[in-house]
Amino acid sequence: MKVVIGSDHGGYHLKQEIKAVLADLEVEVEDVGCDCTDSVDYPDFALPVAQKVAAGEADRGILVCGTGIGMSISANKVKGIRCAVVSDPYSARMSREHNDANVLALGERVVGPGLAHDIVKTWMETPFAAGRHERRLCKISDIEAVDGGDEA
Ligand code: RB5
Repeated sequence: MKVVIGSDHGGYHLKQEIKAVLADLEVEVEDVGCDCTDSVDYPDFALPVAQKVAAGEADRGILVCGTGIGMSISANKVKGIRCAVVSDPYSARMSREHNDANVLALGERVVGPGLAHDIVKTWMETPFAAGRHERRLCKISDIEAVDGGDEA
């Protein structure tokens, strides 16, 4: 399992905490930045994370900004990405079981390190339930195809 992770300045400190959680889970991690708390623009980090997941270069992605919102909006622009902004372990579990979320977005100004630990661990360890949920994910892909101009 390989996870690609990225943050802006607003998520930099929580990203460090999350990398420690991933190390405990013995997950391979690639960090695309940022590398300090100097102000940067979150789409510049959401894009490489989303592209690497969409291309199969990483199994999952994790993005951290102040709220998780800007990162999730950006990541979800990339075809094949199902990014969920999560602030509680229940939503973390459901985003995997029902939505097969392949990118997790967190807000450093929303969740503390302890809660983020539980969210990330739950999200990493929960499998997709498939079944009826497959049909719904296919319908999301259909929206991407139509909106992306793949179909008339
Ligand atoms: C940066 O101030 C902040 O806007 C960003 O981290 C994020 O919260 C945006 O959604």
